[in-house]
Amino acid sequence: MATPAGMRRSLWLETAPSPSFAALEGDGRFDVAVIGGGITGMTTALLLAREGRSVCLLEQGAIGTGTTGHTTAKVTSQHQITYSRIRTTHGKEAAATYGQAMEAAKERVATFVDEGIECDFRRRPADVYASRPGERKLIEKEAVSSTRIKPLAEAPRFAVENSRVGIRFVGDRVFSLKRRNIEDLAAGEGAIVYRDGRKVAGYRDDDGTLHAVSTRCTHLGCQVAWNAAERTWDCPCHGSRFSVDGEILNGPATRPLPP
Ligand SMILES: Cc1cc2nc3c(=O)[nH]c(=O)nc-3n(C[C@H](O)[C@H](O)[C@H](O)COP(=O)(O)OP(=O)(O)OC[C@H]3O[C@@H](n4cnc5c(N)ncnc54)[C@H](O)[C@@H]3O)c2cc1C
Ligand code: FES
Repeated sequence: MATPAGMRRSLWLETAPSPSFAALEGDGRFDVAVIGGGITGMTTALLLAREGRSVCLLEQGAIGTGTTGHTTAKVTSQHQITYSRIRTTHGKEAAATYGQAMEAAKERVATFVDEGIECDFRRRPADVYASRPGERKLIEKEAVSSTRIKPLAEAPRFAVENSRVGIRFVGDRVFSLKRRNIEDLAAGEGAIVYRDGRKVAGYRDDDGTLHAVSTRCTHLGCQVAWNAAERTWDCPCHGSRFSVDGEILNGPATRPLPP
């Protein structure tokens, strides 16, 4: 897919070598067809091939150029306040199962690296921090949930790593909740702003032209957030991404953001 006007390219896609493959010709027989060459499909195909299956990996575009090509490149088992959320909604055991799966996934990636991927992989503590005074209790709850889940305590690496989770409070920082209008945006700036009394996802391009689309992701309605690095609207819920004019860059959304 061509990069929409105004959108910055991902560092990884800009700098990493991108393998290309010819289109599949004719018929073939395989044990398994894996659809999608992101990290999920690549990992699935690799593990199946190692188990001795013949695998056909089918990618509609180029390998690794979907969501996988746009990550911040961290691999973590600590995701904001997920442990306390799962513990509250599904109980301690579910939170523990989730934690074990996250740990196993992280270590799976680390093992791939050990097998010979030169990517400057380093282990670092995970920091979860509050950005508003009212969030302090949520962070404290998460610290308790992520360190006291029984089965997780049996996983020393997780325990060690999370005992170092920095619970940083930026509580003194007072956020400006002032309502901004789209005309207030500076060149290159995107934000949730107001236009004619309606909340919009607004952006002013480098030429000064204003762009505005709906703030609601067309997948399940979460509010999109501005990605200043790539100049895109990203949905925090399931990863849909949109250009400043609302075009779909990544699913699961299947409809563009309307104006
Ligand atoms: C902005 C952002 C930052 C993130 N940062 C991180 C991070 O730092 N660390 C982390 O762990 N996770 C991060 N994530 C989440 C993580 O990137 C995703 O969970 C992961 O990359 C999803 O991989 P995937 O293989 O499932 O999907 P994708 O990478 O999107 O791969 C799916 C592939 O399937 C192909 N495809 C789709 N339909 C078809 C079809 N019908 N036929 C053939 N091919 C098809 C697509 O072209 C695509 O290449 C981030 C997500 C986003 C949006
Ligand atoms: S609600 Fe936006 S991706 Fe699901």
